[in-house]
Amino acid sequence: MKARGRSSSSGVDLHGKKILLIVTGGIAAYKSAHLVRLLVRSGGEVRVVLTASASEFVTPLTFEVLSGNPVPAGLFAPRSEPGVRHVELATWAQRILVAPATADFLAKAAHGLADDLASTVLLAARCPVILAPAMNEGMWQNPAVRRNIDVLRGDGKHFIEPGSGALACGESGSGRMAEPEEIVRTLLSSFEPGDLAGVRFLISAGRTEEDIDPVRYLSNRSSGRMGFALAAEAKRRGAHITLVHGPVDVEPPDVDACTRVRNAARMKAALSKAFPRCNVLIMAAAVADFTPVTRADAKIRRVEGNLSLELKPTPDILAILGARKKKEQVVVGFALETGGGGRFANEKARRKACDYLVLNRVGERTGFSVETNQISVFKDGRKVLATGIVSKEEAAAAIIGQLAADVRLRRMKR
Ligand code: C5P
Repeated sequence: MKARGRSSSSGVDLHGKKILLIVTGGIAAYKSAHLVRLLVRSGGEVRVVLTASASEFVTPLTFEVLSGNPVPAGLFAPRSEPGVRHVELATWAQRILVAPATADFLAKAAHGLADDLASTVLLAARCPVILAPAMNEGMWQNPAVRRNIDVLRGDGKHFIEPGSGALACGESGSGRMAEPEEIVRTLLSSFEPGDLAGVRFLISAGRTEEDIDPVRYLSNRSSGRMGFALAAEAKRRGAHITLVHGPVDVEPPDVDACTRVRNAARMKAALSKAFPRCNVLIMAAAVADFTPVTRADAKIRRVEGNLSLELKPTPDILAILGARKKKEQVVVGFALETGGGGRFANEKARRKACDYLVLNRVGERTGFSVETNQISVFKDGRKVLATGIVSKEEAAAAIIGQLAADVRLRRMKR
């Protein structure tokens, strides 16, 4: 018999896919044994981590036999095991499934606790995470659980809603873990690349360097990571990507067209050329706001006393392209603020004719140079998305997910 959920409607299966299943301590854990069977039958390579209470419901041996892989006993590996166990598992996995996800595990995940292998792996993970909650209806409706789910959604985690029916506690209501077949279908669809197929993205990334003289320039600390993460995510979802980037600290992702420029004037030229053919412009680059009025031909020599540098504004590329925008084009601006950003975000979106404005704050773990970010997205004067401190990849997934739902983009998909 063919297992339901073996391959998706577009024929995607799990061959070559690495799935880490985290089983937490609810009675629905017995269904996770069947889930492992389905995942393996769909071709997936499956490794399982159990919380201590999950192993009260189903033994590690059951999952070892079904997955064909050892189930690690805890956070600390014996000396003979190479690598750091939670990091090794987190980097190995292409998807993490948490099924069942108990209220306690959701609370831990929402707060970033890491006191066992399951929660620590989740914290170390960069790949998409899909949670299938299971609990009694009272717990499922509890405001504390709702809050935790909102936080996790804001962090870019995906949920498979529980269904309703008879619950193990004897009550009937919502809170029943989604059936393993549905979980497999959701997982398969997360590997489908094509939901942005046919949509042309133009993305700017990195910083600009404005020459003062042949050896000195004005710049900022943008690493390029956020813009590159956006390009990689949109590409993963099937979009056509043109990337225009300034100097950066990391390698650009594999995209359809990539132009490297140095200063704001060159960035304006490259973007203006590509703009008419794009459906979506994302201005993630930290373009210099000012450039020296003149570039000295020779190195400026040391002088006694102060030296003044006269600066002029650079072209505001976003505002210029925003003004040229056609009705069906979507323009996304970025704003980096050191405080009170929400107020300025809406004003900036209006001034630069952006459909969306992504606000990121400058902080120890957010903004430039670092690998994490905390973003809010504004549309039509309303905050439509807010994340906690997340990896730039997760922030990118949340932003692209928000854009993918835009009706104009839906119309562009072929
Ligand atoms: O006004 P502010 O520099 O804060 O605006 C930031 C947004 O404007 C970003 O999306 C950035 O890429 C864009 N920008 C631009 N041209 C400039 C300066 C900023 O397109 N000269």
